[in-house]
Amino acid sequence: MQVCASCHGADGNSAGGAYPKLAGQHPDYLVKQLKDFKPQPGARQPVRNNAIMTGMAAALSDQDMVNVAAYFAAQAQKPGYAHNKDTVPLGQKIYRGGVADKGVPACASCHGPTGQGIPSQYPRLSGQWTEYTVAQLNAFTQGPGARNNNEAMHAVASRLSDSEIKAVADYIAGLH
Ligand code: HEC
Ligand code: HEC
Repeated sequence: MQVCASCHGADGNSAGGAYPKLAGQHPDYLVKQLKDFKPQPGARQPVRNNAIMTGMAAALSDQDMVNVAAYFAAQAQKPGYAHNKDTVPLGQKIYRGGVADKGVPACASCHGPTGQGIPSQYPRLSGQWTEYTVAQLNAFTQGPGARNNNEAMHAVASRLSDSEIKAVADYIAGLH
C-alpha cells in the first residue's frame, strides 16, 4: 500500500493524470488488471504492457492483489472535471449514443449511464483523469505490446479519431 501510494495516492486519488485514480473502482476489475500486468507463462509480454506496473505486480501474490484492490475500492473517489467546455457536447454524444456511422456502440451501454461501470466486468470510468483515459484508449487501439486485454475495447477504440478520443475522455472526467 505504501508503495502504491507514491503514485496512486494514499486514498487512491492520484495527484495527476499520469497515474489513474483507483479509489472507488470495482475490486474485481483492479485484480484483473494486476494479473494482466504480469506476463503469463510462455508469453513474451503481458497482455497489459506497462514497465512500471509489471514491476509492481511481480512483487504481489494473488492474495496481496485481492487485499490491495479491496482497500482502494473502498476509498471515496474525489470527483474530476472536464477541461474543455467546447468538446463536452461531442463527448456526451459519443458516451451516450456511440458513433453510429462507424459502428461504435454507446460507452454507456457497458460502462453505465453515469460511468459507474457494472461490477464486476465493466470498470468505472467517471471522474478519471482525462490524460489517463486518453492514454488507455490509445493503448487499446495499439493492441499487442500496449493494452491487449479486451477485444471489445480494442474494436471500440480503434474506430475513434484522435479528436473523438479527447472529447469522450474529457467528458468522462466530469461525469458523475
Ligand atoms: C511509480 C508509479 C507507480 C506505482 C508505485 C504504482 N503504480 Fe499502479 N499504475 C502506474 C501507472 C503509470 C499506471 C497506468 C499504466 C498503463 O498505462 O497501463 C498504473 C496503473 C495501475 C492499475 C490499473 C488501473 C486501471 O484503472 O486500469 C492498477 C490496478 C494499479 N496501477 C495498481 C497499483 C498497485 C496495487 C500498486 C502498489 C502495489 C501500484 N499500482 C503502484 C504507476 C504506478
Ligand atoms: C461492449 C462493452 C463495452 C463498450 C461498448 C465500451 N467499453 Fe470500455 N471497457 C469494457 C471492458 C470489458 C473494459 C475492461 C477491460 C479489461 O478487463 O481490462 C473496458 C475498459 C475501458 C477503459 C479502461 C479503464 C481503466 O481504468 O483503465 C476505458 C478508458 C474505456 N473502457 C472507455 C470506453 C469508452 C470511451 C467507450 C465508448 C466509446 C467504451 N469504453 C465502450 C467494455 C466496453
